[in-house]
Formats: sequence, structure tokens, C-alpha cells
Amino acid sequence: MKPKAERTPAAHLKAHSHLHPQHLAVVGAGKLGEGLLSGILGTQLAPASHVAATVAHPARASYLAEKYGIKAGTDNHAAVEGADLVLICLKPQQVKGFLQEVHGDLRKDALIVSAAASVTTARIERELQHPARVIRAMPNTPCLIRHGMIALARGQHATDTDLEIAEGIFSSMGRTVIVDEKHMDAITGLSASGPAYVYTIIESLAEAGVKLGLPRELSTELSAQTLLGASALVLQTGEHPAKLKDMVTTPAGCTIDGLLELEEGGLRVTLIKAVVRAAERARQLVDSHSA
Ligand SMILES: NC(=O)c1ccc[n+]([C@@H]2O[C@H](COP(=O)([O-])OP(=O)(O)OC[C@H]3O[C@@H](n4cnc5c(N)ncnc54)[C@H](OP(=O)(O)O)[C@@H]3O)[C@@H](O)[C@H]2O)c1
Repeated sequence: MKPKAERTPAAHLKAHSHLHPQHLAVVGAGKLGEGLLSGILGTQLAPASHVAATVAHPARASYLAEKYGIKAGTDNHAAVEGADLVLICLKPQQVKGFLQEVHGDLRKDALIVSAAASVTTARIERELQHPARVIRAMPNTPCLIRHGMIALARGQHATDTDLEIAEGIFSSMGRTVIVDEKHMDAITGLSASGPAYVYTIIESLAEAGVKLGLPRELSTELSAQTLLGASALVLQTGEHPAKLKDMVTTPAGCTIDGLLELEEGGLRVTLIKAVVRAAERARQLVDSHSA
């Protein structure tokens, strides 16, 4: 693996004002949608006065309006009307209803970016009944602190410029990659579900420290920073993880004993199976949406 060249799509987008959305709607501004709002406003890709957001509950709308100075409400029609960029952050099962609801209000030339798991660009294009420009995004929760991993895939009518715009927006939340849509279920199982697996590993390492007599807080800090540092070394050096593992593993030292336990416990196979199962589930969700 090669280290990724330093790219700043957000800076690129910022420098090219013709790529900026004029009116932007964030539909379903929950955990992910709020993270996006914060990234977009923080990087000044759009002024707050040109951003609208919708949620289900008026109390949350008031919170968003007050915190970000945007128009926030529960009326999807009003939010998407006139918007040239619509970010869909709804739950997967709500996307179809939303598209049917706002079908007549959406600008035909609006760029639609959907972060809903499992919902394909083809599905969105079908619901809209016109050759809509659609980008699909698969982020993960570290986006909330701008350390996310976001995969982007284009629909059949989306352009290179559309991808540039989506990349600029999501790069304010972490690292972006552009992929073929056929990989999205695998990515859902790996990097979107992945933080949950990693938290389990962090928790387990911390428990080990506690077992050995370390205070829990210290043990959790040691564990989490170890994963963070090891991950950064992989990304920054571009070295194969096995080579970096060898650097830790002194002949007849302590680490090789620990690694033997991991092999005996089947950690590798277990993690591989976890990702495969989650990806299979993502595929099933697509089927149930198409039913
Ligand atoms: N969170 C992640 O790590 C992650 C990662 C990858 C992909 N995704 C995708 O992102 C999407 C959202 O996930 P999330 O974790 O952000 O969920 P969430 O926090 O539950 O956000 C969903 C939001 O949708 C709002 N909503 C519900 N019905 C609505 C409607 N009819 N019109 C407008 N807004 C409506 C809800 O409003 P109220 O708050 O008022 O109830 C809520 O704010 C999902 O499709 C998920 O697959 C999330």
C-alpha cells in the first residue's frame, strides 16, 4: 500500500467558487447530518443563510437553527425547493418515502448526495424518474471529529465535477476515496461498521490492562492511543502491516508470545468473518428496499 498523497479537496473546492452549491439542503440532520453541517459551515463551503436542514422533531430543528444559524425545520418540501445540492442523511428505509414526497419540488439539475447505507444510486435515479446526478457516500462515525473514512461512488449521470464537489464536502470530515459502487457493501462492512469492531478491541485490550492491575482509565488510554498510533504508522508509511508487525516482534521476545495467543484464539478469522457478515447484511438491506 502506498501512503496517500496529501490532497485537500476541501481547499480545492473552496478555491473554486463556481463549484460551490448555491443552496444546500441536509435532509435528516441527525448524527451524521449534523457532522456534515458542521464540516460544511466550518470550511465555509456555503454560508449558513444558504443552508437548510430537516429533521422529524421540531425541538431538534430549533436546536440546529440556533446552533448553526441555518434554516431548520420539519418540512422537506420547503428545504429542497430551489436547492442545487441535496444531502440525504436519512435512515435507509426512509429514503424511498422522502424521494416520493419531494419528487415534484426537487430541481431537475440538483446534485443528490446520499449517505444512506445500502440505497443504490440506481434506486434513487429510479424513484426520481429523471436522469438525476446522484453520488453515494459511505462515511463512518469518526467523521464527527473529522477523522472519518468516506467512500464515494458516482451514479450513471453524475459528472467528474459532481464527484469533486462531494469529495470537497466530505473531506471536511476525514479521508475520502472514490470507488466503484459495486464495492459499497464491502466498504459498509469494513469501514462503516469497522469502528464498532475497533471499539471492541480497544475495550478488550483495556480489560487486559485491568486484569494486570492497571487503573481502567489509564488502561483505556494506553489501548486507544496504541490503535491510533499503529493505524497512523500504516497510513503514513504505506508499509504492509505485516512488516510493521515484524518491527515490534523481537525474536524470543514478549510480543511473539502474545501473537501466538491471538492466532490460537482465531482473531484474524473472526475479524474477516465479521466484515463478511456485515457486508452480506448490507446486501440484504438493498434487496429488502427493492422489494
Ligand atoms: N452514523 C454513522 O456512522 C453512519 C455511517 C454510515 C452511513 N450512515 C447513514 O447515515 C444515515 C443516518 O444515520 P444517523 O446515524 O445520522 O441517524 P440518525 O442520527 O437517526 O439521523 C436520522 C435523522 O433523520 C431525521 N428524520 C427522520 N425522519 C425524517 C423525515 N421524514 N424527514 C426529515 N428528517 C427525518 C431524524 O430526525 P429527529 O432527530 O428529529 O428524530 C434524525 O435527525 C443512515 O442512512 C445511515 O445508514 C451513518
